[in-house]
Amino acid sequence: MSATSTEQRVGALLERYRGAVNDGLRAALSRPGVEHARYMRYHFGREDIDGAPLDAPAGKMLRPALCMLCCEAAGGNARRALAAAVAIELLHNFSLIHDDIEDNSDTRHGRPALWRAAGIPQAINAGDGMFVLAQRTLLDLADAGVPPERVLDAARRLNDACIALCEGQHRDIAFEGRATVSLAEYEAMIGGKTAALLSAAAAIGAVAAGAPAATVEALGECGRLLGLAFQVQDDVLGAWGDPRATGKSAADDIRMKKKAFPAVYALEHLDADGRERLLALYAQPSLPDADVAAVLDLFERAGARDGAGAAARAYAGAALAAIRETDLEPERRAEIAALAEFFVDRSS
Ligand code: IPE
Ligand code: IPE
Ligand code: MG
Ligand code: MG
Repeated sequence: MSATSTEQRVGALLERYRGAVNDGLRAALSRPGVEHARYMRYHFGREDIDGAPLDAPAGKMLRPALCMLCCEAAGGNARRALAAAVAIELLHNFSLIHDDIEDNSDTRHGRPALWRAAGIPQAINAGDGMFVLAQRTLLDLADAGVPPERVLDAARRLNDACIALCEGQHRDIAFEGRATVSLAEYEAMIGGKTAALLSAAAAIGAVAAGAPAATVEALGECGRLLGLAFQVQDDVLGAWGDPRATGKSAADDIRMKKKAFPAVYALEHLDADGRERLLALYAQPSLPDADVAAVLDLFERAGARDGAGAAARAYAGAALAAIRETDLEPERRAEIAALAEFFVDRSS
């Protein structure tokens, strides 16, 4: 598929679900009597920090789209998965609100991160509220006719994903203080912080469709591998991304000494001299701009950009292989393939 046709296909599929997900988010974020939800609306670009209406770019909404797409791929009506899709987007955004505090990141979606606008205490609290709102919203699956045992299955999956996400975040933060991290440790870390939620999104879509267990598991594994591909490319953008496209500050990962893919790859592939230099740069208490540039040079010298591209493509290929034997709607399978390509090539 050419880059343009992938982009068009992904654009069209995201558009197909966006309106319904936005409506669901709007309802969730305007519960009567929940005053702290104004900080959630700020995070989602719906209001400025003083509560005035705004229509600022928020997320790409990839996870709810994956959930609804997998519901359709498994033969269901996407509407049946809507409450889960909204819940997953809320859960994802709870994790972003807390992640920006944990990562000392100033900018999200091209605007000051919630903690920069409202302070850390209110941002933590709004994130906590959003986490609970996600759990509550998931239960609305029952209103769309999803049988109780399937709602319970979806709730178990979402909660398990959240435990994995927190474990992944724990490792990500712990690795800041480690000189080296192996590729296997890196994979386990991103498997938690990112891939678990994409896996749950895909599997829960199939659960809402009433799909057989084998289909649910195959789509869950596909989502997990897509999540690994997604995070490797996120790490590329974390090093070389354009802040105007990502909406995040440049090279934050390096300043925070994150063991993101380029760092892990460079530490494994540089010659002895380059590796020593990289270790010395990371051993400093903080990295001034000139040292950030020196780290980027060493990443390039190690071939980390190509290494990341190859790794992301391998994960995306494995994701499609995981559903090869599964009976899915052909048109939806092709859209999952387009999403896989987008995950590897995206610049935002
Ligand atoms: C960012 O995810 C956080 C990661 C797990 C890498 P997205 O890039 O999907 O974030 P939004 O929702 O589109 O902003
Ligand atoms: C992604 O974290 C995972 C979660 C937010 C749970 P990152 O720290 O890698 O993502 P960005 O780059 O801030 O979006
Ligand atoms: Mg992080
Ligand atoms: Mg971060």
